[in-house]
Amino acid sequence: MEAKLKAILADAQTEAPNVTDRASFEAFKARFVGPRGSLTEAMKGMGAVPKEDKPAVGRLINEAKTGLTALFDEIHSKVEAAELADRLGPAIDPTLPTVDAPSGVLHPIAQVREELVEVFRRIGFNVAEGTEVETEFYCFDALNMPGDHPARDMQDSYYLPAQAEFLNVSKKADERYLLRTHTSTVQVRTMLENKPPIRIVAPGRCFRRDTPDATHSANFHQIEGLYVAESVTLCDLKATLDHFVKAVFGPKARTRLRPSFFPFTEPSFEMDFFSPDLGKLSNRWLEIMGCGLVDPAVFEACGIDPERYSGFAFGMGIERIAMILQGVDDIRYYYQNDLRFLRQFIG
Ligand code: DAH
Repeated sequence: MEAKLKAILADAQTEAPNVTDRASFEAFKARFVGPRGSLTEAMKGMGAVPKEDKPAVGRLINEAKTGLTALFDEIHSKVEAAELADRLGPAIDPTLPTVDAPSGVLHPIAQVREELVEVFRRIGFNVAEGTEVETEFYCFDALNMPGDHPARDMQDSYYLPAQAEFLNVSKKADERYLLRTHTSTVQVRTMLENKPPIRIVAPGRCFRRDTPDATHSANFHQIEGLYVAESVTLCDLKATLDHFVKAVFGPKARTRLRPSFFPFTEPSFEMDFFSPDLGKLSNRWLEIMGCGLVDPAVFEACGIDPERYSGFAFGMGIERIAMILQGVDDIRYYYQNDLRFLRQFIG
């Protein structure tokens, strides 16, 4: 009897791996515990077992039963898992592109941003980043814009609640947080953290209180440039901008610097370009950026010795350049997410 019961369990264990679906599982179970199953038969044989052997045989039967039940449970979960997998179909890789929708492309503003930044990367400029939430120090004070400068006016800038706290932007007690009004803040951050030579461009989003119209938006993008080293001159600025303009607007493009004023550069200029290569898109001189030589007061605020170093800086609006290159006549199109507009810039 003992040998018989052991054989039943061993038989079940050898057979188990072949049981993979529900039908064979039912048949498998019946072979052991069905009305004519081997365990059922063995239990029927209990009657013939001598009285003194009954407890031992009973225990063996229980062991065989427990062993079989465990085996059945195990097979049952495997069968269920196989059935579920069957219903779900082949394994899905959620990282694959969908067949239903075309893959995305960069927004037209981002396309132009990449193109402009790439021109500077190729001549040794690195990309630097700042933060969109800024303090008055980075946005104004360090850039030689005194407390009464009109840009600091509540009408011109978006200020944030005094109690707000922002990661990475620490401020003095009486200072205010605001959304940066230009990317020139990145000049300050970069100079405070790095020693010359410095050669960076900083693309990013800026915010100003503006009534939206065809050429104004409260949210817009700029690219800032900064080059600081020993004996940087206006020649370097002019040559760099000439190169940039030719790379972006065509080899026949010309530049012109007009005297202007910015608190953070001295002298300061507006740069215009004219490009016969653009045809109808540009049939006159167009102003695209402010620039100049870094004002010594800015160097001092940023811990750089103005006696030893000099530098140039420039800042341009990406939307303005995108509008010229893409022939767009209203800045608001860029922010409306109208697919009829956006689709024109695929590929
Ligand atoms: N920050 C200026 C603006 O938003 C643009 C600018 C002018 C940036 C001259 C510069 C610069 O770096 O040198 O109007």
